[in-house]
Amino acid sequence: MFISLEGIDGSGKSTQARVLADALRGEGRDVVLTREPGGAPGAEEIRKLLVEGATDRWSAETEILLFTAARRDHLERTIRPAIDAGKIVITDRFADSTRVYQGATRGDLRALVDGIHDLAIGVEPDLTLILDMDPEIALSRGLARDSGEDRFEEFGLGFQRALREGFQGLARRHPARCRLINANDNPEVVANRILTATLAALR
Ligand code: TYD
Repeated sequence: MFISLEGIDGSGKSTQARVLADALRGEGRDVVLTREPGGAPGAEEIRKLLVEGATDRWSAETEILLFTAARRDHLERTIRPAIDAGKIVITDRFADSTRVYQGATRGDLRALVDGIHDLAIGVEPDLTLILDMDPEIALSRGLARDSGEDRFEEFGLGFQRALREGFQGLARRHPARCRLINANDNPEVVANRILTATLAALR
């Protein structure tokens, strides 16, 4: 089973991905927890190019190519081998992030994103958990971390609002694989919603 977690910056995905991985391991499942951009040594090198530096460092089109290059490496080196070995893969972000961050916020580049995805990646998760939350709360959390990886947070609140709408639209268009999770509540409540949705999909 291949699971992705998606959401705007500061939505708590990374924490929730870890909590979900631990909960499934507690049930005796073999879980690989990974992330994008990154998740394999080469892809982690590409990550640095993407998340650090000025907001105008890359055009959206160049970003699509870099994220896709990183994703291809992640797929070849980490995701496919784990799935072939019968493990559950949980990735903190996957192609839906490119659809929304690059495809729907700075002009309409969805056709380019979808074309490159079909040619170079061609797989979708079995289950996509979209953490839906108020961008004002999420943004204050994201920047407060001051991780040095704030390039996308620095696009600002309007950008995060457009991202939220983009993710909500994906959930509506792909109801078979996407679950919209209300992430405005405290982390334990959100974790329970995520675990319930995941166990239902695993059955
Ligand atoms: P991530 O490490 O998930 O950051 P965070 O934990 O703060 O959510 O992702 C880094 C940034 O890269 C994030 O702002 C989202 C962005 N991103 C894209 O713009 N396109 C993509 O395809 C991916 C995977 C991430």
